[in-house]
Amino acid sequence: MPSLTLAERVAVTDQLDYAVLKYLLNNRGKFEYVPKSIIRDNTGLTNGELEVSLLKLLKTGALLKTKVRGEDSYSITFTGLDILATKGLYAKRVLKRLGIVVGEGKESQVVYGYDFDDNLLVVKFHRVGRRSYKRNVRGDTTIKDWVLKTLGNARREYEAMNCVKQNMGNVPKPLGLSINAVALEFVEGVQLNKAELRDPQKALDSVLGTLRVAYVYCGGLVHGDLSPYNVMVDSSENVFVIDWPQATRDDILLINDLKNILGHFKEKYGLDYDMDRVEEYVKGKA
Ligand SMILES: Nc1ncnc2c1ncn2[C@@H]1O[C@H](COP(=O)(O)OP(=O)(O)O)[C@@H](O)[C@H]1O
Ligand SMILES: [Mg+2]
Repeated sequence: MPSLTLAERVAVTDQLDYAVLKYLLNNRGKFEYVPKSIIRDNTGLTNGELEVSLLKLLKTGALLKTKVRGEDSYSITFTGLDILATKGLYAKRVLKRLGIVVGEGKESQVVYGYDFDDNLLVVKFHRVGRRSYKRNVRGDTTIKDWVLKTLGNARREYEAMNCVKQNMGNVPKPLGLSINAVALEFVEGVQLNKAELRDPQKALDSVLGTLRVAYVYCGGLVHGDLSPYNVMVDSSENVFVIDWPQATRDDILLINDLKNILGHFKEKYGLDYDMDRVEEYVKGKA
């Protein structure tokens, strides 16, 4: 069912299916694929129930199947994580329903959603590292790393945006975190590279002020992937710095971020800021 939307995949997933997915997520062992008998013994599903669940989850793309030493064995996929995360955000009353896809990046998929008051929001589903996975000599792949990386990115992004927002920086308000999903306030705007700003200096100051908040109030936090693509601007020219999963405490990345953003404003608007002074400002020394 490759054409199903995530919302549709979630809609056909019932409690027993969730139990299977949750087991596969929470009991990630040494190997990626878990034999059917082990899933059955640990979820308490009957053979019949498990058969129905596994078939359905395979059809929705939530699981992959292979034979391990002759037994059908299963592994959770990114779609499986997305389904669990969507349910998690629902249970937290952050997200009532999902809408259409906003965009698909290399390591994430952003989808529109609605909260319980029908306000628009976005959910960013992280997806990192699985493709780069290599099989070992026994033909097994380890699941741990890509799941850990993916969940780590979601958590890092949520925590970074939370700290910056709480300290009055300009980011979309983070609304919730579940598994690999970060729910965010919807920003009605365009990426900075597509904007024609009336007051570029105000926008640049606002970006730099946000970097300063991250650095000074969030323990030296640096965005780490700043570019005109990761800044959104609304029609009142309010800016929002987005895309924080790689946020880290590394001063070298700060210099890179500053070069990228100052370079854009210099090239497009002729604004010439002094790099050293900006660095001091962002680090709270000026
Ligand atoms: N809060 C938001 N409101 C509206 N659109 C958003 C929001 N966050 C992200 N987007 C859209 O999704 C795109 C990708 O988001 P981003 O966080 O940059 O992820 P990535 O670049 O890793 O795919 C953005 O360029 C923007 O178009
Ligand atoms: Mg981006």
